[in-house]
Formats: sequence, structure tokens, C-alpha cells
Amino acid sequence: MVMQSLSRIGRGAVRRGSAAVGALRGRIPPQSPPWEPSAERRHGWWDLLPFTTHRIPLADGYETAVDGANPFEDVRIDIVMEACGGSLDGRTVVDLGCLEGGFSLALAEQGAAHVVGIEARRISVERCRLAAALRGTPNVEFVEADIKDELARRDPFDVVLATGILYHVSDPAAMLRDMRSACRGVAVIDTHVAATDAATHGCSELVERTLDGGVYRGRMFAEYAPDSSLDERAGLLWAAWSDADSFWPLEDDLVRMIHDAGFESVEKIEFDADRRQRWRVDQVNRVTYVARVTS
Ligand SMILES: C[S@@+](CC[C@H](N)C(=O)[O-])C[C@H]1O[C@@H](n2cnc3c(N)ncnc32)[C@H](O)[C@@H]1O
Repeated sequence: MVMQSLSRIGRGAVRRGSAAVGALRGRIPPQSPPWEPSAERRHGWWDLLPFTTHRIPLADGYETAVDGANPFEDVRIDIVMEACGGSLDGRTVVDLGCLEGGFSLALAEQGAAHVVGIEARRISVERCRLAAALRGTPNVEFVEADIKDELARRDPFDVVLATGILYHVSDPAAMLRDMRSACRGVAVIDTHVAATDAATHGCSELVERTLDGGVYRGRMFAEYAPDSSLDERAGLLWAAWSDADSFWPLEDDLVRMIHDAGFESVEKIEFDADRRQRWRVDQVNRVTYVARVTS
């Protein structure tokens, strides 16, 4: 039944799917996965392979993606660990816009008490759950939700991880305030900012926006057509979920925004050559800050 399903999804998928068969053999019998993928997955969890970018190691050298980056080797995991004094023992973590779950899994396996990954897109959440099942990582939970709703429902976390998400919201000041309310320790923020001189990434001219009383300068970025259907948005796996435009503040304005949100200390993380090499993102106008709650 498995090979029959595979043959229907193309040669590339067969090759990758066959690799996954080996990875799964002896761990999860193909006929009885540990959870039911949604009915949208015609071939069950085979439809979830390969992942788009989180290249998560599975058993026997297999991985969830052919290309992409291994989150377990990503420098942002090091930055979280350093920000936490080298240990996550007993700490709770939330991973905002967790995509395919690689960072959540890496932090869970670094000893966190519990990790919650929040992700709006169903197929990505299913990939997260598949990866957790295949790695046998128990202390991680993946929630299909909009961050803006879900954070408010949760008790504060010791660690808030925001990689590649702040530049996907139209009101980053509000998201930072939500993050501050949800944080009782440290927040790691990895994001694009607007360039001062000329626009990058197809951003707009410089604009000034008033967000909750603060005035910030930056650029707008179009995420999707405002009249996009839910299905169209669901297919844009790396994009904003609920904002047709996002606002990228200038770096100085971002720092002020983090302070305005109520974080008491804000520290920029500088990258040496080794770290740059392991920072597997588009590095143009990309910055990383560690913000802390001290009271
Ligand atoms: C650029 S990807 C970054 C993924 C991941 N954090 C990483 O660094 O590899 C942005 C992710 O955030 C998710 N996302 C965007 N807006 C969201 C929202 N409002 N609520 C929940 N997830 C959202 C997207 O579906 C996507 O998976």
C-alpha cells in the first residue's frame, strides 16, 4: 500500500519517500501511524514528505528534507543556550511560527521541561508532529493557531523564541508586547530589519507608523494579495498568516520597540565567521537580539 501510494506522487517523492521508508521502518509501522493526519492528506503521512526546509535528522542517517538546513546545528540554538546560561533544564520554551518544528525539537532535546511550537499552517503542524513522533521526543507540543491568539491563552514561558516571524506581522510592536507578556525570562529575536538607505527585499519607501503610541520608522513588505483566499494563504508556507502587509522597522526603531514592549535589557548578538556560516538564513539586514525580563 505504501509503495502504491508513493508511485502516485512522482519520482522525486518516491526517491525521498523510499528514504523515509527506511527511516521509519521499525519505528512507526506505515499502516498505523501514531496519529491520524488530517483528511486533506490523501496518502496519509506520506504527503508530508519531504519538508520544505527543516532538514531534521531521523534514524539511520535519513532526514526530513533533501535540501534546507539542519536546525540541530543552527547557531540560533547556541544563542538560546548561551542566553540561558548553558542549560534549559526545567525551563519552558515557546517557539513562535515554528514551521516544521526543527527548533522546537532541538530545544526540547537540549533538556527543556516543555516546548510549545505555535504554527498557523496545518500541513506544517502535521510535519512538526510527524518529526516529533519519528524522533520520539515527548516534551514538545505543537499547536495549530495564530500566535496572536495563542500566546494570550498561555502561562508565561521561561524562553520565547522568535526566529523569522517578527518581519511577518504588520504590528511588530503588538507582537513584542504579547511576547513580553508571555515571557518570564529571555526572548531571542532573529529578524530582518529595514535598510536605512535603500529598500531591500522589495520593501516600500521609508514610512512612519504610530503603533500603540510609539512612532517608528521602517518599511512595508507585501506578504500576499489582500483578497487572497484561505487556501491560497495556506499554501504560502513561509509567509505571514494573518497580515497581508508586514512592517519592518529600522534597527534603531526595533530596539526602541523591544524596550517599549517592556523588556528591561536588550543585547545585540554579533556573529563571527563561524557563526555566520551556521546562521542558515538570508543575512541581508538580518539581526539577532536577546531581550530579558529582569523584574
Ligand atoms: C519564515 S517562517 C520561519 C520559520 C521558523 N521559525 C524558522 O526560523 O525556520 C515563518 C513561519 O511563521 C508562520 N506564521 C506566520 N504568521 C503566523 C501567525 N500569525 N501565527 C502563527 N504562525 C505564523 C508561518 O506559517 C511560517 O511557518
